[in-house]
Amino acid sequence: MRSSHREKRQSAEGAITQHTINDEICPPTDAVALRKLVHKHVRALPKYWKMKPTAKHNVAAFEEALDFIIRRGQSRDESLTKVVLDSGCGTGRSSHLLGERYRDCVVIGIDQSLARLSKNRAYGQLENDTNVHLIRAELFDFWKFCICSPRWRRHVQIVKHYLLYPNPYPKKSRLKNRFYAHPSFPLLMMTLTMDDDVDEDKELVVRSNWRGYLDEFKLAAGVWGEIGGDVNDWVDFVDANGEGEWFPKAPPAEWKTTGPTLITVSPPLTNFEAKFLKCGEPIYEFRMYKSGTLQNDDS
Ligand SMILES: C[S@@+](CC[C@H](N)C(=O)[O-])C[C@H]1O[C@@H](n2cnc3c(N)ncnc32)[C@H](O)[C@@H]1O
Repeated sequence: MRSSHREKRQSAEGAITQHTINDEICPPTDAVALRKLVHKHVRALPKYWKMKPTAKHNVAAFEEALDFIIRRGQSRDESLTKVVLDSGCGTGRSSHLLGERYRDCVVIGIDQSLARLSKNRAYGQLENDTNVHLIRAELFDFWKFCICSPRWRRHVQIVKHYLLYPNPYPKKSRLKNRFYAHPSFPLLMMTLTMDDDVDEDKELVVRSNWRGYLDEFKLAAGVWGEIGGDVNDWVDFVDANGEGEWFPKAPPAEWKTTGPTLITVSPPLTNFEAKFLKCGEPIYEFRMYKSGTLQNDDS
């Protein structure tokens, strides 16, 4: 079997385990092709925005999360509430740990899997004494609602966005299922530029056991930065009728990045991380941030 063969080999960065994905298993995507794909997704965003059907339960989940954030903000006399998104939170283990770490923020854990969320006793509870709320929703819809909801934009400031062990889709034919090569990628990137007039650090944190995934994520994020995609520009475009292709007019964004870096973590932030740590699978992190102090506070 392929995995048992792999288990016998060692890489410079640690054991190769049954979970390892490397260049042999999935060769890197051609960089020029990936750049073209990101450009195409930006240009074609108007079509994706209009054509993608929106499920009612995603709208309801979004409103539930927003009500939670606003209630929490009002109880603390905040005009703008700082929010950490934990996209693809699985059982929500990371959301709770992030809630402890960022006590001045509200953490919203989002996942489409009822089976995973239901493993968390807090799922489905509307508790007032917590800064963490888990919802079942599809991420592409959720990101879209964040961008187009004036109420969200009036009350919320996304300061961190975590993508912890996104589904890797390690087959070439599944490239477009990976977040960085998906038509929704511009939406994901825009969640980080929604309130640039507010002087606050922004950060995206992506972790994976597949270094190549993060290398390609970084490349795609760089292309987005070069294009200068910006949420205000997008909202103006949509308000103006949103027809045709989108060519952002904002100047290139100055994002800083670190990684992908091999990291050691204790305790694990997520269930997948725990599984990887247990068997010695190396894990990597990519961070993309704007201004100020980058705290390396996860290890
Ligand atoms: C590999 S698991 C990682 C879960 C968790 N972050 C962890 O590290 O244990 C990926 C998670 O992303 C969720 N997911 C993937 N695509 C999604 C989408 N489009 N909308 C909502 N959730 C999604 C899956 O349901 C799954 O729980």
